[in-house]
Amino acid sequence: MPMKPEEYIDVTPEKNHYSLEHFVIPKHYEKDVSSILIPHGVIMDRIQKLARLIVDDTTGPLVVCCILKGGHQYFADLVNQIKALTKNNGMSVPLSLEFIRVKSYKNDQSEGVTISMSESECRELEGKNLLIVEDIIDTGKTMVKLLERLQDYKPKSVRVTSLLVKKTERSNGYIPDYVGFAIPDAFVVGYALDYNEYFRDLDHICVISEHGKKAYAV
Ligand code: IMP
Repeated sequence: MPMKPEEYIDVTPEKNHYSLEHFVIPKHYEKDVSSILIPHGVIMDRIQKLARLIVDDTTGPLVVCCILKGGHQYFADLVNQIKALTKNNGMSVPLSLEFIRVKSYKNDQSEGVTISMSESECRELEGKNLLIVEDIIDTGKTMVKLLERLQDYKPKSVRVTSLLVKKTERSNGYIPDYVGFAIPDAFVVGYALDYNEYFRDLDHICVISEHGKKAYAV
């Protein structure tokens, strides 16, 4: 079930303005980001809550599917939080982990996605409860296509969590089951989100600057 807007954190530049001086930014990115949108500590605290919501809704084993590459940091921290909950609170959610690289394609017939799993790995999803872990939903197209594709393998259930959802007019309306933050329609980097493979090594989620766009353009 899509998460309701009042259940996730609405990040706006007015409410959530942090100067670059307030936190530590690696020297090599100092000129390449214009503001810090979500500091790393806030991301971690939010993930603790998302893990709790997911565990509360889960009975039995869960296949947690990491969407590479951008989702890897959120996936790692979320899995750690779920493990901590099940260790300390006597809750039982056996986890298995899957890693999926998703590529969008468009030809003159249709739009779709290809996924990096082999046919036999896909067939193993049959009858399982899946949790898809994504970094950001922008237009929502990638996720909708991925979900269509996964249905071919008859999982028992599929839930989706995305750390970020972009507030954009280009959205197809798709909202995941568990959302961390809704963010303004800007290009963000950090916490494994990249711009041409750069910024994955930045901890905070930041808005890229014009300088950064030029410096790392391909
Ligand atoms: P969608 O199909 O438009 O929802 O696009 C989703 C994918 O686009 C994400 O998985 C990201 O890889 C990429 N993406 C969209 N917006 C951003 C951004 O602001 N920063 C980094 N990657 C982004």
